[in-house]
Amino acid sequence: MHNVLVTGGAGFIGSNLIRHLLWAEPQLRIVNLDALTYAGSTMNLDDLPDPSRHTFVRGDIGDRPLVERLLREHQIDAVVHLAAETHVDRSILGPAPFVQTNIVGTFTLLEAARHFWIGEAAFPLDHVRFHHVSTDEVYGPLAPLDPPAVEDQAYRPTSPYAASKAAADHLVRAYGRTYGLPVTLSNCTNNYGPRQFPEKLVPLVLLNAVAGKPIPVYGDGQQVRDWIHVQDHCEAVEIILRRGRPGETYHVGGGAPSTNLALIQQLCALLDDKRPNSPHRPHARLIQFVADRPAHDRRYDLNLEKIAATLDWSPRESLASGLAKTAEWYLGHLEWVDSVRQQPGYVEWLERNYGARERSA
Ligand code: NAD
Ligand code: DAU
Repeated sequence: MHNVLVTGGAGFIGSNLIRHLLWAEPQLRIVNLDALTYAGSTMNLDDLPDPSRHTFVRGDIGDRPLVERLLREHQIDAVVHLAAETHVDRSILGPAPFVQTNIVGTFTLLEAARHFWIGEAAFPLDHVRFHHVSTDEVYGPLAPLDPPAVEDQAYRPTSPYAASKAAADHLVRAYGRTYGLPVTLSNCTNNYGPRQFPEKLVPLVLLNAVAGKPIPVYGDGQQVRDWIHVQDHCEAVEIILRRGRPGETYHVGGGAPSTNLALIQQLCALLDDKRPNSPHRPHARLIQFVADRPAHDRRYDLNLEKIAATLDWSPRESLASGLAKTAEWYLGHLEWVDSVRQQPGYVEWLERNYGARERSA
């Protein structure tokens, strides 16, 4: 692995991953292809370690001539594919870009890689890798007593987002089986950490609480999610890239399941400690139950035994310390928050998503 194309590298996980790879792999050069949708920001790429090994290209993964040019010009021997539309709520209110980017965009990348690596025999096939980053949501909801999902469990996606990621996963596996493209996949649980766009639960709760605004809990807040610090996810992806076997899927997670309500209460208690003089203490007072997300999956959880046993990876950050670090980061980077909130359409999005939700308690 010498020249890596990272897609979606100006987003939350992608920018943390690029930071990690530049630090961990001193020989690596990275080309970062990102369309800079509302979720991407070049601010996420400030202060990279050794920025001379990082090239940013603004563009769409669905632009086949552009992708082919980048593969050829930079002699790309690994693709790490993260670019996606990622927010479930947005997929419910407007699914079209999810189909376009997550399905058609993934297809375009696969075709370009197949053409360059297999059609043109650019490198020996055992020297290349296409790694696809996916989600636990493809498995659909677990019942309370179901065991955590395993890697070959059937897919039962319920939201347009999850369905689009499931379709992409199927395409990636099909290219591995049919054409012999050396692919790996990872399905990960809910990430939190620095540079996550503040529409997602953890930053939304932190920032609303600090501002004394209501904290919206969908439904009864008893939905269960597993939470992983983004740095742990990045380390897992790096290990899969280096040692993962072609054709294999690996689960990645924090091993820290929580109901949404318990997580929100934990964040509120954390802020109570960090901001003893806040007029909004106790922050949990701001919690407001609102109308549920349609088809809101009750529980996700992933079995993490395969990656532990075969690649010797397990998460390092505990939920308590990871959330505390994340709160510190947001409180110390309010200029970043202000800047990303100025993305066109953000205020309208808040109104569309929350304006119509009735308080339920
Ligand atoms: P994000 O929304 O923060 O960032 C997505 C990035 O992709 C943005 O920078 C955006 O500009 C870019 N992008 C979107 N459409 C594009 C296109 N057509 N062409 C090029 N770039 C485009 O997302 P994230 O949370 O960092 O997630 C990254 C990946 O990880 C996604 O594939 C997501 O499905 C997966 N994932 C995320 C989580 C999570 O909890 N955040 C968990 C599991 C898996
Ligand atoms: O499970 C992994 C997935 O986690 C990733 O694949 C997605 O890309 C990522 O966005 C995330 O999924 P969601 O889009 O559901 O994340 P969100 O932070 O919006 O929601 C997490 C949980 O919190 C979910 O059960 C809904 C709930 N929630 C969310 C918001 C924004 C609320 O109760 N209130 C809220 O205001």
